[in-house]
Amino acid sequence: MMVFKEQLQLKKHLALHKKATIGLVPTMGALHAGHLALVEQALEENDYVIVSIFVNPTQFDDQKDLNAYPKTLAADLQKLSTYGEKVFVYAPEVKDVYPEETTTKQFNFGTLETTMEGTARPGHFQGMATIVFKLLAGFMPTRAYFGEKDYQQLSIIHALVAQKKLTIQIVNCPIVREKDGLAMSSRNTRLSKEQRAIAPLIYQTLLQARALKEKKELPQIKQWVEAFFNAHPAFKLDYFCIANAQSLQPATTSREGEKIRAFIAVKLGDIRLIDNINF
Ligand code: PAF
Repeated sequence: MMVFKEQLQLKKHLALHKKATIGLVPTMGALHAGHLALVEQALEENDYVIVSIFVNPTQFDDQKDLNAYPKTLAADLQKLSTYGEKVFVYAPEVKDVYPEETTTKQFNFGTLETTMEGTARPGHFQGMATIVFKLLAGFMPTRAYFGEKDYQQLSIIHALVAQKKLTIQIVNCPIVREKDGLAMSSRNTRLSKEQRAIAPLIYQTLLQARALKEKKELPQIKQWVEAFFNAHPAFKLDYFCIANAQSLQPATTSREGEKIRAFIAVKLGDIRLIDNINF
């Protein structure tokens, strides 16, 4: 497995494999089984796979969150080394990604970015799109792989690729969960033992909410979820939203044939967790 610190070096190396298909798996490191599932799918579908490991400063609206983000490069490289020479790692310093100022480009994603995570984390999606665009346009992979845990991020990446007319296939990959249902996330490592023990309630509540569709209207289900988390001393609910799976705009009735999803963001102490399910 080759590790590159500079985009230019990796691009020179890719030029040696002109006809090869390339899968890109962008990550911020602290790799877990969810990331490895993306790498494995990318390896199955492409000749070579680039895994980028970069904690992108411009997508953090909170400096404390950026500082606390787990950085485990040695362990990450160890995990990726098991995949052999078909994997190229791009693990740059900030200067390689942002040679001048560490600032965001400006994109317009309309209402896709003014709801849920967009409201809760101002500027987050502009920063995320900035780095994803740099990676996509820089390496021009055949396919790029992203997990559905960050479903809103994925919707915005699809919009980005369409706006910039990039001929790259964006592959949506299902959420990978712990045995108890908690969606895998690098942030889970920061949970205390007590917080980790109750964190699966997030997914369990989503499942219970979905089961309530038999008996209740969507606004009542929303109230039920909000009441549950508001009454729980350890959780602070940021939002629970049932929305159209494409536009991400709130859905108030379940219409025949309309694809909807339920989205949630909650805090356990300082740690903010998100999840979503088909609804
Ligand atoms: O989902 C993430 O880990 C990040 O938002 C991404 C896509 C790697 C961009 O920094």
